[in-house]
Amino acid sequence: MHLTEVLEQEESIVTGVVTCEKGHLWYIENSIIDLLYPPLREEDRKWVAEYNRMAKDYDEAVKNYDDWLQIDMMKEREHLAQFLPNTGHINILDASIGTGANFIALENTLQDQVSRLSMHGLDVSDGMLEVCRSKFESVDLYVNLVRGNIFNMPFRSNYFHIVVHTGGLNTFSEKERFLQEMLRVAVNEGTIVVIDEGISPKIRNEERGRSIIEENSLFGTRPPLECLPEAARDVEVDYIMNDTFYRIVFKK
Ligand SMILES: C[S@@+](CC[C@H](N)C(=O)[O-])C[C@H]1O[C@@H](n2cnc3c(N)ncnc32)[C@H](O)[C@@H]1O
Repeated sequence: MHLTEVLEQEESIVTGVVTCEKGHLWYIENSIIDLLYPPLREEDRKWVAEYNRMAKDYDEAVKNYDDWLQIDMMKEREHLAQFLPNTGHINILDASIGTGANFIALENTLQDQVSRLSMHGLDVSDGMLEVCRSKFESVDLYVNLVRGNIFNMPFRSNYFHIVVHTGGLNTFSEKERFLQEMLRVAVNEGTIVVIDEGISPKIRNEERGRSIIEENSLFGTRPPLECLPEAARDVEVDYIMNDTFYRIVFKK
């Protein structure tokens, strides 16, 4: 079967091989298509191995943030719903989906409205994607899961009404490229939402802020606005989760 036919058909293919117009072969296993290209560099491969190793325990590990920072991260993820268009069909991408928590949260909050959404999740870690797959299957949620690289997203331009990313940007080596890719795959007027660790200016010089950074230096990160593409419009930055995470929202 040809790749474009696969991406456009509604039913899931569990296992198979497809070709693209250049004649390359792409493999589908456990309903996840592997569109990773180009192959990972050696240093990235080490990260993938690490994410694969932690995939099964990742959700439990993230819960530690809730107690420590006095937040409810699953509830906070539900707030992504505010960025969805109010009407019509919506193509949404979670870029570096991890264990799929954002889509589970959206399903919790949107309930029957979720049928307006075509959900797509991209990640490089097959371990993370496998956790997603079994989680989504258990709640009967259909998400198109793709293995691929966020720096070279295997999606056509101008496709997603909303592109979200949570939790990885601070450590990504090619921030500009990733943000540019998010913009590329978004439709005109589409919304891009990026959330990651970084305490607000308000608490940065307070005892609480200082001790959070001391415990985990990632929280000292400032929103990397200098990495945003020039074409990004209506850029807004605020701080959520009890002033501990920055949120950058912009439009294409
Ligand atoms: C800290 S986790 C965040 C997961 C999820 N977004 C969340 O909010 O819980 C970072 C994720 O980025 C993925 N990742 C790292 N580098 C990537 C790359 N180059 N391409 C695609 N995904 C990548 C990892 O596999 C991992 O699932």
